[in-house]
Formats: sequence, structure tokens, C-alpha cells
Amino acid sequence: MANSIEKSKQSLPEKLRQGATAAADWMQDSQFWTSVFRPGSIFRKGYTDSPRNRSYVVMNSVLYHLHPVKVKRHAVKVSYTLCLGGLSFFLFILLTVTGIFLMFFYRPTAAAAWSDIESLHTQVSFGLLVRNMHRWGAHLMVLSVFLHMARVFYHGAYKAPREFNWVIGVMLLKLTLLLSFTGYLLPWDQLSLWAVTVGTNMMGFTPVFGDQVRFVLLGGKQIGAETLLRWYVLHVLMLPFVLVIFLAIHFWRVRKDGGISGPL
Ligand code: HEM
Repeated sequence: MANSIEKSKQSLPEKLRQGATAAADWMQDSQFWTSVFRPGSIFRKGYTDSPRNRSYVVMNSVLYHLHPVKVKRHAVKVSYTLCLGGLSFFLFILLTVTGIFLMFFYRPTAAAAWSDIESLHTQVSFGLLVRNMHRWGAHLMVLSVFLHMARVFYHGAYKAPREFNWVIGVMLLKLTLLLSFTGYLLPWDQLSLWAVTVGTNMMGFTPVFGDQVRFVLLGGKQIGAETLLRWYVLHVLMLPFVLVIFLAIHFWRVRKDGGISGPL
């Protein structure tokens, strides 16, 4: 009774302050609060900077856990890796984003392909820019993957225990080249027609299965609308899909092999 009389005597600001404190207490006891601000969360409270707490942060965050808890000092030196693997990955992401943009305006048919590219240049906002980003990005990715491989070779990082990751890397190089080559046909101009004619003729000289390989690649006896559709599906779907799987294995192996190799 005395308590309620006391309460009614309180001023409005005091009542508001008490209400806010009660609400904050209730919030801090809730499951939502305790799971967002748990130890190791990037939003944690009362953080003490210890190796254990640092490891918690990395392990408990979906983004951070892609990184190892501890990194060797030499591995973060740009002069060691030249970030060429990271650059290749960045270019792959750039190619995926610009490629999706291009897919909105491009139809893989013999009648529409070339004129779609033409109208991409003249009628689509930023069309020419995005196409050129995609084209240059592809050239740069081939270059950066090759240089990354050269860097790995120079450091002897292909040796045990990284020999399996080297093999995965070779698959990634092949996939990068195949993506580049399949994309070359898509503008459906004279240059791409003849480049692919030459390329598939060369593949036709594969021992034993030459003719079959050529037939499967062209979707017929010679280059035509079927080839365009076939290479489009390979370029936008199958090859990127397979490349992403190999990339995941590649990154996972870097971690399993004890991080980046040491200097010679
Ligand atoms: C799409 C292509 C590729 C991507 C995105 C990629 C990405 C990466 C990244 C991010 C690393 C971490 C260190 C660094 O940046 O150097 C790495 C390491 C490595 N990569 Fe690649 N890579 C690709 C192709 C290749 C190729 C073609 C090879 C060899 C044939 C290769 C072999 C290796 C090896 C052995 C390591 C461990 C290097 C070390 O411990 O020093 N990778 N890769």
C-alpha cells in the first residue's frame, strides 16, 4: 500500500526512467539478446582480448569462420602470395555478377545472338561498360590464374603436403580456359565462328575418339545453332558450377594443408 502511494508520488521523468530500466533488463534476459551477444559473437559485450576469445569470434561468425583462427606472419605478406589467388577469385565473382547482367539481354539463338550484342552496346544503359568489364575480366582472370600458378611453382608450394591442391589447381586452370573459350563463341560474329571452327578442328585430332569429341562439342557435323546453345549452357551453367565445387575444395585444402606454405 505504502509502496503504491510512493509510486504515485513519483514524477513522470522518474517513472519513464524506471520503465526504460525494466524494459532493458527484460531485453537483456531474453533469448534473442543472449544469443546475439553471446561470447564470441562480433556483437559480444564485455569482451576481453584473449587468444581464446579471438578464436571464438572467428569460429562463431559465418563470415569470419572462412578464415583460419591463426595465420602465419608470412602468409599475410602481400609480397609472398602477391594476392594472385585472391585476385583470381575476385575476378571470378566480378565475372559472375557482370555475366548475370548480360544474361538479361542476350538470347543464345543464331538469329538473335549477334543483334542482342549490338543492342547491348547502343540501347542498354551501361551495356557496353558491363560487356567490356566481362570481357576484360575474363582476360585478366586467365592471366591472374596463370601467374598464381607460376607463384605457387616458384615457391615450391606444389610439393607435399600440397600436391593434391596442385592437382585441384590444374582443374581450376582448365575450367578457367574452358570458360574463356566457350564465352568466345557467344557474340556469334565472324571472329568467334572461325576461332571455334579452328579450336574444334584441333580437338577433332584427339586420338581414337577425335570425331566423337568434335561431334559432341559442336552438337552436329559443323558449327551451327546447336553449337551456340550447347556452349551457352556450358558457359553460364555447367562450367561455373563445376568451378565453384573445385574452388571450395581448393580453399578447404589450403586450410587443411596448414595454411599458406612458408618462404623457401
Ligand atoms: C580459379 C583459379 C584459382 C583460384 C581462384 C585460386 C585461389 C587460391 C587462393 C585464394 C589461394 C591462397 C593463397 C594465394 O592467394 O596464393 C590459393 C593457393 C594455392 N593454389 Fe590456387 N587458385 C586457383 C588456381 C590454381 C592453379 C591453376 C594452381 C596450380 C596448378 C593452384 C594451386 C594452388 C596451391 C598449391 C596453393 C597453396 C599455395 C601455398 O600454400 O603457398 N591454384 N589458390
